[in-house]
Amino acid sequence: MTQEAFELRLAEKVKEAERILEEYLPGEEGFQKTVLQAMNYSVRAGGKRLRPILLLETNAMLGGEARLAEPFAAALELIHTYSLVHDDLPAMDNDSYRRGRETTWKVYGEAMGILAGDGLLNYAFEVTQAAFDRCMEEEELRRCVRALGILAKNAGWQGMLGGQVVDVEAEKLERALTEEEILFVHAHKTSALICSALCIGGALAGASEEVLGRLDRIGRNVGLAFQIRDDMLDVIGDTQELGKQVGSDAANHKQTYVTLHGLEASGREVERLSREATELLASLPGSHDFIEALILSLIDRRK
Ligand code: IPE
Ligand code: IPE
Ligand code: MG
Ligand code: MG
Ligand code: MG
Repeated sequence: MTQEAFELRLAEKVKEAERILEEYLPGEEGFQKTVLQAMNYSVRAGGKRLRPILLLETNAMLGGEARLAEPFAAALELIHTYSLVHDDLPAMDNDSYRRGRETTWKVYGEAMGILAGDGLLNYAFEVTQAAFDRCMEEEELRRCVRALGILAKNAGWQGMLGGQVVDVEAEKLERALTEEEILFVHAHKTSALICSALCIGGALAGASEEVLGRLDRIGRNVGLAFQIRDDMLDVIGDTQELGKQVGSDAANHKQTYVTLHGLEASGREVERLSREATELLASLPGSHDFIEALILSLIDRRK
């Protein structure tokens, strides 16, 4: 796939993901409308929409129905956005700038930032209901139940939240993180939601346990590479281009892949993990040109 063809296709996919998301965003009315404004503010701020795109593409690659995948794609982006809203809070990374605008708590205050994150998380599960409503046979219901379990598990203490716990605790640690600990942080705080994207896409397409296992391994690698690149961009990135403040990790005394191994080794690891992911992808059925190009494009992303 040429670079030009890939970029065109990616732009279409981002638009498609945003169209789907818009379908589910709540109206901003009622006595609780402030929290609805805060929820929509963070979702509409943009972002790469990587997770919903991966979910929809994996589902299509394995022959699944977009009808079931769409509500799950929206739900996953809502959960990802909640993780960012909370990640930026003063008690966490204390960041003021995200997706090219002021962070949710900066605009709506800290209490509303907490509530908006909670609101997005709960609403995500409500949104998955649409997939259940669209089921036409028992087999489809079974696939949705499986997808729901993957979504819940990867967001919580066994997934993203678990990684955030160790990430926050590490700020106060008097010693360097071990390789095992840093991999735990990255695999949980970041890989988990990316695994969710791939595995939910697979589960909704009726993939076997074997295929789901491979999707999970691909997701782990892509997520590790993605977070290492994120750590690099915090040092070498550009605030405008990135849409978030660089130097945030240093300000928070974060131990990152870059502080532990240096920029050069980090870059090499991003490349190695991504290549390994595309090799695994090649062993799966269906056409994977676009997903492969997407994974490779993340190696030297600037935002
Ligand atoms: C940011 O995720 C948080 C990390 C896991 C590094 P993204 O870089 O995907 O953020 P958006 O969605 O594009 O804003
Ligand atoms: C966050 O990692 C991963 C999440 C679960 C939100 P970072 O704290 O490095 O993400 P950014 O750099 O703020 O996007
Ligand atoms: Mg963080
Ligand atoms: Mg952060
Ligand atoms: Mg970061």
